[in-house]
Amino acid sequence: MASIGVPSLEDLLPLEGRRVLLRADFNVPVRDGVITDDLRIRAALPTIVWLQEHGATVVACTHFGRPKGKPEPRYDVAPIRARLAELAPGVELLENLRFNAGETTNDPGFVAELIAGFDAYVNDAFGASHREHASIVGPPLHLPSAAGRLLEREVEVLGGLREHPNRPFIAVLGGSKVSDKLRVIESLLEVADEVLIGGGMCFTFLKAMGHAVGASLCEDDMVDRCRALLDRGAAIRLPSDVTALAPGGKIGDPSAGGEVRQMGRSIPDGWMGLDIGPGTSAEFSDAVLEARTVFWNGPMGVFEDPRFEAGTRTLAEAVAESTAFTVVGGGDSAAAVAQFGLAGQIDHISTGGGASLELLEQGDLPGLAALRQSRKDTA
Ligand code: 3PG
Ligand code: MG
Repeated sequence: MASIGVPSLEDLLPLEGRRVLLRADFNVPVRDGVITDDLRIRAALPTIVWLQEHGATVVACTHFGRPKGKPEPRYDVAPIRARLAELAPGVELLENLRFNAGETTNDPGFVAELIAGFDAYVNDAFGASHREHASIVGPPLHLPSAAGRLLEREVEVLGGLREHPNRPFIAVLGGSKVSDKLRVIESLLEVADEVLIGGGMCFTFLKAMGHAVGASLCEDDMVDRCRALLDRGAAIRLPSDVTALAPGGKIGDPSAGGEVRQMGRSIPDGWMGLDIGPGTSAEFSDAVLEARTVFWNGPMGVFEDPRFEAGTRTLAEAVAESTAFTVVGGGDSAAAVAQFGLAGQIDHISTGGGASLELLEQGDLPGLAALRQSRKDTA
């Protein structure tokens, strides 16, 4: 039994000659039919190898993209199947789970179809375990089931941040929408010593402080909630300076012109804040270098545009450099770390974006709850 209260692979033994259904999260970035980052496939290999070494036949399944319950050529798993065949010969990959409408509606008929012919089920799809979808919550009710090594490790690391972080514990959050992150900010404020906020969502907070934000991203309906957090003296640190683009400039297109200027917290009409400024980058770096635990999720600016990558790059370098235990949430921040060639210097890069935030927020996930159910029914 794993410390997270769900069965481990060992609980499934003996597996000689058994057929195991492996739910993985192989929802990888693909451009023009080519996988641009295969982290999520490689991350499932320890589980696959363990199962094969113990005599099991492994059949994997995953969702890919967000097709609407029927086949769509651009979400064909063929590129994933090809890469999997290279990395883990002998593992079959089923068709994209979301080509069947029963996946997202958690239809019992689809669960029955999925588990037919299998002796056991393993969930190693951390990145999808916050979804109450058929392939995540269904099989444990019917088959002896266990968490794979990746799922176990993710829960151990992210759960550990909530339970026993070394202090100071600094959380750095970026990304565009406050509305997506407000609850996780509130949860992190309970366990972290300080929450540093950059990215598009900082402007809603800056507006709540009374600053002009120009044409920057801002969620007006969230301003009051941000103000309430700040008023109650929450340990939130906001940028003291910003890199902004003049009216007429185009994000992602330096050749279109448009002046780029460093400014403080007040942004003139028409200007758009698109990165934290150099002063803030330096301050955030110091905080990360002085911390003993760091969690980072979400870019500090529009790092795909070289004019606005400095904040994210400086932060990524500090996280890589820091002697703290460092955890980077999935999605864009993991992509940034990979783009800057720093992935090898991070203690844990989560394969889950939404899942890692939900686990930090709630301390549990539907996929884990389902595996706990399995223990009761089948052990
Ligand atoms: C992800 O990429 O965030 C996971 O694979 C989950 O995908 P989803 O957000 O489409 O459910
Ligand atoms: Mg997502």
